[in-house]
Amino acid sequence: MNVSLLDRTQETNRKIETREARIGIVGMGYVGLPLALLFSEERFAITGFDIDPKKVETLNHGGSYIVRIGSSEIQAAQKAGFSATADYRQISQMDVVIICVPTPLNEYHEPDLSYVTGTVNSIAPHLREGQLIILESTTYPGTTEEVVVPLLEQGNPSGLRVARDAYSPGFFVAFSPEREDPGNDTVARRDIPKVVGGCGPAARDLASAVYKTIFNRTVTVSSPAVAEMTKLLENIYRCVNIALVNELKQLCMRMGIDLFEVIDAAKTKPFGFQAFYPGPGLGGHCIPIDPFYLSWKAKEFDFRTRFIELAGEINSGMPYYVIEKTALALNRQSKCLNGSRILVLGLAYKRDVDDLRESPSLTIIELLREQGAIVAYNDPYFPTVGHGRHYDLDMTNTPLDNLAQFDAVVIVTDHSTYDYKTIVDQSQLVVDTRNATKGIHSPKIVRC
Ligand SMILES: NC(=O)c1ccc[n+]([C@@H]2O[C@H](COP(=O)([O-])OP(=O)(O)OC[C@H]3O[C@@H](n4cnc5c(N)ncnc54)[C@H](O)[C@@H]3O)[C@@H](O)[C@H]2O)c1
Repeated sequence: MNVSLLDRTQETNRKIETREARIGIVGMGYVGLPLALLFSEERFAITGFDIDPKKVETLNHGGSYIVRIGSSEIQAAQKAGFSATADYRQISQMDVVIICVPTPLNEYHEPDLSYVTGTVNSIAPHLREGQLIILESTTYPGTTEEVVVPLLEQGNPSGLRVARDAYSPGFFVAFSPEREDPGNDTVARRDIPKVVGGCGPAARDLASAVYKTIFNRTVTVSSPAVAEMTKLLENIYRCVNIALVNELKQLCMRMGIDLFEVIDAAKTKPFGFQAFYPGPGLGGHCIPIDPFYLSWKAKEFDFRTRFIELAGEINSGMPYYVIEKTALALNRQSKCLNGSRILVLGLAYKRDVDDLRESPSLTIIELLREQGAIVAYNDPYFPTVGHGRHYDLDMTNTPLDNLAQFDAVVIVTDHSTYDYKTIVDQSQLVVDTRNATKGIHSPKIVRC
């Protein structure tokens, strides 16, 4: 090797080791903010970039807008140098930039990369030599190489190019998927191995060095596409298995078998089986969305991802199944949905989180309203619910002090703060989509 060649990753590696490296995290949401706090705990000075001025202001006043993150954590990070900004000019001061912006689907169920491209276009003019740019947003294989790299190359005025090895001038680019499981406290974030794929081994190793400061283990792979596909495989695996148990639940209901009891028995097998649970439909920013990033990309290769499509069909049908079961339960009491007062218990897409993105509760409320039901909701995490990308509800939280006024209470999210025994005792009819009333025996309960 020519010893006169300059290793352009050396200085950033040194700064990572001494914690002098400046890390910018773009997107201060459910992924970006906790990541910023982890780096802050490791004594890095973090700059959080966000286009939402309210988030920037809240953070700079030492406040938090995510329930499970306390203001004290933001204030501790501030002491370590954390600040938030909407000013992309500060990107030039960063050694590492990590992008954690949304990747939703558009109205045609196709990938909407506009947040990623918007972010990359804002970063590009401020790029400088030797910087490392990492994409964390979940996306289809090829995004980093086919979308992010060209935009960065075209958008920077100094004509910088992606550096494919440590000795080439330019900037480094990598992809590393986020693997967080919101509300799951059984695994510390630090213990979740971090998968990293780079545009070349130098970018991969530099990104791995950054993450090794906050994760106990990094798993390096040969390309960004492998890392992108890894994340999709994990989420498709969940999506397909949830669809399987959702379908089996419907069969078991007809056969008079309790699928939850079956799953509890099956999971005693010490190998070859992992428990997945049925529910009222998929929710959150990941499982209902990510698989369709791959089915969209597959079309470019003249390929149909049939498992994903079938799983999507079954899972998206679950809210309709809940409506059907609620209507049948009311029918048995000589009532109909039209004009009935229904309380939807739980708005969040899963237990104990303050996130209602893609939540099946939203669809269920809309479907109930379409049938003429008078719908209220209760969720300790949402005092009100207004408008979103896919819903327009304009509702206020209803306290649980007069459950008898409702013809039916539909348990959609099984928050652990609910006292299910009292709820059953005080309600006329309970439709339970989560097995939350397990162990409670009452003719008022309809499990579905
Ligand atoms: N939430 C999860 O549990 C989870 C888990 C794994 C992966 N992911 C993935 O991580 C990514 C981010 O998800 P999230 O849940 O943190 O989203 P989020 O909506 O909570 O946060 C995204 C943030 O990005 C900001 N933003 C949007 N465009 C921007 C721009 N051009 N410049 C600066 N900021 C911008 C938004 O204002 C918002 O604060 C997505 O791709 C998602 O699929 C999320």
